[in-house]
Amino acid sequence: MKASRDNLPVPNPSLQPTKPELVRIFDTTLRDGEQSPGVSLTADAKLQIAEQLAKLGVDVIEAGFPVSSPGDMSGVQKIAKSVGQAKRTNKHGLIADPPGIAAMARASRADIDSAWRGVRDAIYPRIHIVLATSDIHMEYKLRKTRPEVIEMARSSVAYARNLCNDVEFSPEDATRSDRDYLVQVLEAAVEAGATTLNIPDTVGYATPEEYGALIGFIHHHFASANVTVSAHCHDDLGLATANTLAGLANGARQVEGTINGIGERAGNACMTETVMALRTRAPLFSLETNIITKEIWRTSKLVSDLTGMVVQPNKAIVGANAFAHQAGIHQDGMLKNKRTYEIMDPSDVGVSESSLVLGKLSGRNALRSKLEKLGYHVEGEKLDQVSIRVKQVLDIQRAVSDLQLHEICAEVFRSTNAAVAY
Ligand code: KIV
Ligand code: ZN
Repeated sequence: MKASRDNLPVPNPSLQPTKPELVRIFDTTLRDGEQSPGVSLTADAKLQIAEQLAKLGVDVIEAGFPVSSPGDMSGVQKIAKSVGQAKRTNKHGLIADPPGIAAMARASRADIDSAWRGVRDAIYPRIHIVLATSDIHMEYKLRKTRPEVIEMARSSVAYARNLCNDVEFSPEDATRSDRDYLVQVLEAAVEAGATTLNIPDTVGYATPEEYGALIGFIHHHFASANVTVSAHCHDDLGLATANTLAGLANGARQVEGTINGIGERAGNACMTETVMALRTRAPLFSLETNIITKEIWRTSKLVSDLTGMVVQPNKAIVGANAFAHQAGIHQDGMLKNKRTYEIMDPSDVGVSESSLVLGKLSGRNALRSKLEKLGYHVEGEKLDQVSIRVKQVLDIQRAVSDLQLHEICAEVFRSTNAAVAY
């Protein structure tokens, strides 16, 4: 087997599709993401986020759950009328269609009517019906029998299809549902006209092997039906992105996720992690998305500001430290060749450049480079002296500011003319 640029084995090219297949990105920041404890978005804030999601290039925006409140209905309608009708620029710089606008409904006529009123003004409206299929949900939450739930799936999808050409069906808690029964419910939904079968790991319970196997099974079972299989994963065990990728490897061609991974409990799959995994490991997956990755950082920041959900510094792709290096050995490598410690170019996700953070473990090369940026060319003994002072500061505080570096340089160079400021 050949080795790739990164010295990892490249899959046999003759086993790979010649052209990457497209994966549809379904963003549910405004529905599942808004279910994060403590988050509530006004209709205007939702609209602002939806506009940015359209710029990011998502294929479908799930704008909300209209039956839940008049405010949510109003937000969904505003999005359908504006973002859902506006042309946009795609990743090739060409004029492209607006995103699809989806709204969630339970399997009842009142919910479906509300969802339809929410999205009907969009050019590509979608009704998303959710109905639980695990025994525990059917017995305790729905208080319905298995045959009753099959009938609910059939009648609700048929009702929605009379209103809208695009109907997504989600068997809630699919990963804890009896597989044979799950397939019977999905068959009823497909017969009634469902266009997407979304398979939620509602409680973040599945492992990648299990989730991949479930998606593979459903993909093969419905291979001759004209439906898209979709992955929808939660992060209760920290496996949401891994499970989503396992779903893609086994035939899912739509993925659902949120910006910054916000959502119920531990959150949803972080959409940008999936997107950047597909891009960074392109030969492995041979799948592509319509996402304009340079918009990722801006989108993350907007969602964090408007929801008040702070992004943890070490979060993949969008965390403040995602492209920051502090250890001397790493900084030395970075100064010689960025690919020693970075698998993605920060500018690809909209971060201007990686940063070398001066900390206790930083080395002379990083310090020299930082001083150069501040206008000091320092070598030899003088560099040692600056380094000693910097470490004294870092013993008592976490970071050294530019001002402190100027002061240290001034002190060290005061007695001599060894520093060349330029
Ligand atoms: O996690 C879940 O089951 C959901 C469904 C509503 C799709 O969010
Ligand atoms: Zn969910």
